[in-house]
Amino acid sequence: MSFDTREHNSQRRYFDQCDSFWLFGYGSLIWKAGFAYLERRPASIFNWSRRFWHGSHDHRGTVQSPGRVVTLIKDEGARCDGMAYRITPAVLADLDIREKNGYLRELIPIYLSSQLSGAPSTQVSGLVYIATADSEAYLGEAPLLAIAQQIVQAKGPSGENRDYLLNLDNALRQLGMQDEHVSQLAAHVQQISE
Ligand code: SIN
Repeated sequence: MSFDTREHNSQRRYFDQCDSFWLFGYGSLIWKAGFAYLERRPASIFNWSRRFWHGSHDHRGTVQSPGRVVTLIKDEGARCDGMAYRITPAVLADLDIREKNGYLRELIPIYLSSQLSGAPSTQVSGLVYIATADSEAYLGEAPLLAIAQQIVQAKGPSGENRDYLLNLDNALRQLGMQDEHVSQLAAHVQQISE
């Protein structure tokens, strides 16, 4: 599949007939909403892990020197914490542009927390943007140090790749959410940058 997923996503009209629905954010959508939402709640999904395995050729890197951003990897028994937003279908057009570099709209069970750092309680069927190995923009697994080195070097129209990682790490900490992959990468990047 080519980098640009806008055409694919425009066919995925799961919630077109709803007044509002929930979107799960696990990367920049946690710390930089940048879209109108009706409500937001800390939330979790299960059997997925967040990994810096996807390439950013349009936001945090370039085609010549791609950055690395998060996607979700199937991982039985794992839990990924993030932020869910209740949005209207009209918001998706702009989100499809933002997430066009390989991310596809997917349906997913989302467990909403009733309060900050609360245990996930209510389950809803919502939407998430996931990039898989089918995408030409996918970079795949690499040693943590190699990923950190790539992140330190990359920058794109949305800014430095390291800020994407460090903002995500900070946001997760503030929400009381633990993610070793993210915190270990942030530690490597800070060490390399010293
Ligand atoms: C997300 O945040 O949910 C998707 C990945 C990103 O935009 O960083």
